[in-house]
Amino acid sequence: MAVNTKKLFDLSGRVAIITGGSMGLGRQMAEGLAEMGANLVLCARKKERCEQAAEELKQLGVKTLAFACDVKNPDEIRDVVQQTASRFGRIDILINNAGTAWGAPVEDMQLEHWNKVIETNLTGTFLFSQAVGKFMVPLRRGKIINISSVAGLRGAPPEFQAIGYHASKGGVISFTKDLACKWGVHNIQVNAIAPGWFPTHMSKVVIERNREIFLKKIPLGRFGGDQDLKGAAVFLASDASDFVTGHVLVVDGGQTA
Ligand SMILES: NC(=O)c1ccc[n+]([C@@H]2O[C@H](COP(=O)([O-])OP(=O)(O)OC[C@H]3O[C@@H](n4cnc5c(N)ncnc54)[C@H](OP(=O)(O)O)[C@@H]3O)[C@@H](O)[C@H]2O)c1
Repeated sequence: MAVNTKKLFDLSGRVAIITGGSMGLGRQMAEGLAEMGANLVLCARKKERCEQAAEELKQLGVKTLAFACDVKNPDEIRDVVQQTASRFGRIDILINNAGTAWGAPVEDMQLEHWNKVIETNLTGTFLFSQAVGKFMVPLRRGKIINISSVAGLRGAPPEFQAIGYHASKGGVISFTKDLACKWGVHNIQVNAIAPGWFPTHMSKVVIERNREIFLKKIPLGRFGGDQDLKGAAVFLASDASDFVTGHVLVVDGGQTA
């Protein structure tokens, strides 16, 4: 008999690692997963912010862990993955959410800034997926969700100068599709979410500066809010998406429609 739909979305007892889960969109997706029963591992460079978010999310009745981890550092990633496996005994879900941006005209973009963005957004996604894959592949199950952006789908006008960010997020989409093709045989679903504009620490200055211009281009007439990513994350983390892989789920209020 087919599984009940509520059961398909249920994440009770599952273990999810969320990079950059301390704030912004990572924190929102962590809350969504915890509300569906998942235990959480939050990691980012600033451990105190992860600990605070972990403490708050524990109130939802799930177990949480917080680690300091720079996604540019393979040793720190390995440590988070190993500690998760030894403390929880399983890893079901990875959300590669940690991200950064650098604004500068193409002509002036410094190599170190380009590298920082690519290494965080794209290489970090590769390194974390590789480390988690070592646990998921033998178990023949797992969900990897990569946070791309609508910036990864197309270019932007000259007012928005962040070519490294666009390149990295486009790379995340190609990485997602290729990894989905490679790890389908292991029953691991690999998907991406491409958010539009959500006011967060990273985006708030750009949004404030361009508020009216951006809003005119969003059919739903608003920016993303505190719950707008929860459903997409829960869907891609749960059994409800078991036949979905290599997909890019756009959550942008219609901006790219
Ligand atoms: N906000 C938007 O409009 C929007 C739209 C499309 C896509 N996105 C994507 O959504 C993701 C989350 O962004 P956000 O808007 O929520 O930004 P945010 O509020 O600035 O949060 C970024 C998170 O990533 C962590 N982080 C940054 N660099 C890291 C590193 N090297 N290693 C580990 N963690 C790192 C930060 O913590 P630490 O600083 O402590 O490391 C923080 O937890 C990013 O991938 C971003 O590109 C955002």
